[in-house]
Amino acid sequence: MKAEILKLLREADGYVSGQQLCEKFGVSRTAVWKVIRQLQEEGYQVEAVRNKGYRIIDSPDVMTREELESLMQTRWAGQKIVYYDETDSTNLRIKQLGDEGAAHGTLAVADRQTAGRGRRGRSWESPAGSSIYMSILLRPQIPPDKAPMLTLVMACSVAEGLQDCAETYGYSGIKIKWPNDIIINGKKLVGILTEMSTQIDYINHVTVGVGINVNRTEFPEEIRETATSLRLECGRVVKRAPIIAAIMKRLEANYETFLETQDLSGLMERYSELLVNRDRDVLILSPEGSYPAHALGINEQGELLVRREDGSEEAVYAGEVSVRGVYGYV
Ligand code: BTN
Repeated sequence: MKAEILKLLREADGYVSGQQLCEKFGVSRTAVWKVIRQLQEEGYQVEAVRNKGYRIIDSPDVMTREELESLMQTRWAGQKIVYYDETDSTNLRIKQLGDEGAAHGTLAVADRQTAGRGRRGRSWESPAGSSIYMSILLRPQIPPDKAPMLTLVMACSVAEGLQDCAETYGYSGIKIKWPNDIIINGKKLVGILTEMSTQIDYINHVTVGVGINVNRTEFPEEIRETATSLRLECGRVVKRAPIIAAIMKRLEANYETFLETQDLSGLMERYSELLVNRDRDVLILSPEGSYPAHALGINEQGELLVRREDGSEEAVYAGEVSVRGVYGYV
């Protein structure tokens, strides 16, 4: 009932009377008042005015199930939410929930991770109170070799969701660094890690994990030059829950577009618009060595199209190479 009351208060134009809430939920005025008191204790500023009712003025920067449920505008993405003040890794939690049969779209969110995982076996430092650590469970009925494209679907959704919230906080310049880092003003803001559980020709489930530096102001020495947060970029504290809701809304639409063709043809244009590498000189880092090229965009499979110095064009695959700018990270 708490999430529903929050949602009603948020969506109301002005005050919601105690009577309305009692009737809607079939409970007593005391029961409604208890929920309002709980919300106030959790940091929500809810004004209670005699003969008018309740009005929400501000909410705290929390990512609890109730807060997220009250903001979610989706049919399946993030409709089932599991929130942890602390967990090892939301990717591990979602994998386990996936094995136990949890629904497509189940979302795990944590305020802190003790064993956050990054790509290429690295760890993802995950202190409390300042970032988003979330993972979603997907159950696509597609061949396993198409699943890596889901990382790009998520990258596009995160970039769009962050752009949707940009005006409120006054940040700008959200871009994607191929294949799936989100950057702002040339520094890394978001990392995405996709892991799957498969049979030979069948996907059991896919976990897409997203780490977003929202209000973080300190980074470890080794990433200090290349990492940033929304707060560092816009100078304001940014609320995390609305960002999650905005990303889930974009993801739901983009995932459905992806499933129609089981490739990125419906998202390619949008992705390429967001691509920081587009029309830039890059260095392709491959196991055989690195070589300079000019990045053109992506193809339907999510591969990066590049023109080599000899004028030949090729598509490079994210599993095999990585890309960096000629002068540094982008
Ligand atoms: C990267 O190395 O760029 C990917 C980092 C992914 C981090 C996120 S945080 C939420 C989810 N849980 C994890 O353990 N990792 C991902």
